[in-house]
Order: sequence, then structure tokens, then C-alpha cells
Amino acid sequence: MALGVAFAIPWLLLVLVPYISLAKLEPVAYAEDELPDGGMTQYPDKNLLRHGASDYGRDIYASEGCAYCHTQMVRPTYAGPDMWRPGWGGREDDGFARETRPQDYVTEKYAPLGYQRIGPDLANVGNRITDRALMHEHLYNPKGIDRNSGMPAYKHLYKDSPFGKGYEPTEKAEALVDYLLSLKKDQPLPAVVATGG
Ligand code: HEC
Repeated sequence: MALGVAFAIPWLLLVLVPYISLAKLEPVAYAEDELPDGGMTQYPDKNLLRHGASDYGRDIYASEGCAYCHTQMVRPTYAGPDMWRPGWGGREDDGFARETRPQDYVTEKYAPLGYQRIGPDLANVGNRITDRALMHEHLYNPKGIDRNSGMPAYKHLYKDSPFGKGYEPTEKAEALVDYLLSLKKDQPLPAVVATGG
């Protein structure tokens, strides 16, 4: 009994309370004087809801185990140096770089936060790598891009080109790349959220 209570209290505090408080997060409307370009009226924007190929791509991301080595969460500066790592927080040059917020996941079916960081955080990889062919190359042959890369090659997601040279992406690889290119968590925050709302 005492043991049960000893486990139940941390569980309530660490799992249930955050779950209840985060599960009811709702999109937040921008104030009239802070509407960003691009017609977005709320954060997170409804159009960020994944659909079609990039939605399927997230399932491939999960089933291939990418989350064992990659996180998708830019930590607050009090918890680590993420914001100083080039490109991790988003488009620094345009002033859009920021830490990840719980609301950033509201449009996701599930949030692949990740288990460990053997490779770089991917929350904003769609801002860092914008070239489709390069993204494929990274999955097909990571060592071709970085000789010392510790990332395994995902050759099983590709088939040999019928012309004998090179490779062709399968439907899974295309969907995964759609998903990776869509990974951006740098939508400007409404002031009420930025100041701790
Ligand atoms: C065993 C660990 C491991 C696994 C599993 C893994 N990666 Fe990686 N990944 C890395 C490492 C280490 C790097 C950094 C070196 C490099 O760029 O190749 C990296 C780099 C990347 C990059 C480039 C990021 C950047 O900012 O340049 C992308 C994109 C990526 N991985 C996607 C994936 C995807 C998608 C999967 C699953 C299909 C995956 N990785 C699985 C370790 C891993």
C-alpha cells in the first residue's frame, strides 16, 4: 500500500497533471496589431495540420526509429544551448528563431519528441535543409554527406535505378522527405503566449 502511494504521487505529478494541463491547449488568436504575413490568424496555424504524404511520412519516421537518435524540441535556454546552435531554433536571419512551445504540437496527431540526441534536433530541419534531393541523399547515404556520420543508411527505403546508376526513392522515402521538409517550428508567437500565457 505504502509502496503504491509512493509510486502514485510522482505519477500524478509527472504524468497526469501535465497531461491534463497540456491536453486542453487551444490555438491562440493574434491581436490585430501583431498579425504576421501570410494570412495566419492564430497560433498554431490551422494549415500546419499535416495531411496526405507528410502525415504518412510521420508514421515512417516513427516506424524507422528515427526518434531513437533525434529529438524535435528546441529547449529553453535555461535548459541547454539549443538556441546557440546554428539553425536549430529556426530562421535566425529573419528573426524567427525561438524555443519550442507546448502549443507547437497542437496540430500533431502525436509528437515525436525523441528519446536521445545522437543526431541534431529536427524541430526546424525543414528550414535548414530545403533541397529535396539533398534530404534523400542524407537518408540513402549519410556518410556521403559527412564522412564521420553516425547515422545508419536507410537504403531499404530506395530501389536501384532501372538505368543501373543511382537510386530511386520508394513511396515511403518520398513521404518521409515530405515530412522532414515540413518540419518547422518557428511560427511567430502571439504576445500573450510569448510572455508566458
Ligand atoms: C543511430 C542514430 C541515428 C538514427 C537512428 C537516425 N539518425 Fe539522423 N542523424 C544522426 C547523426 C549522428 C546525424 C549527424 C551527422 C549527419 O549529418 O549525418 C544525423 C543527421 C540527420 C539529418 C541532418 C540534420 C541536419 O541538421 O543536418 C537528418 C535530416 C536526419 N538525420 C534524419 C533522420 C531520419 C529521418 C532518420 C530515420 C529514418 C534518422 N535520421 C535516423 C543519427 C541518427
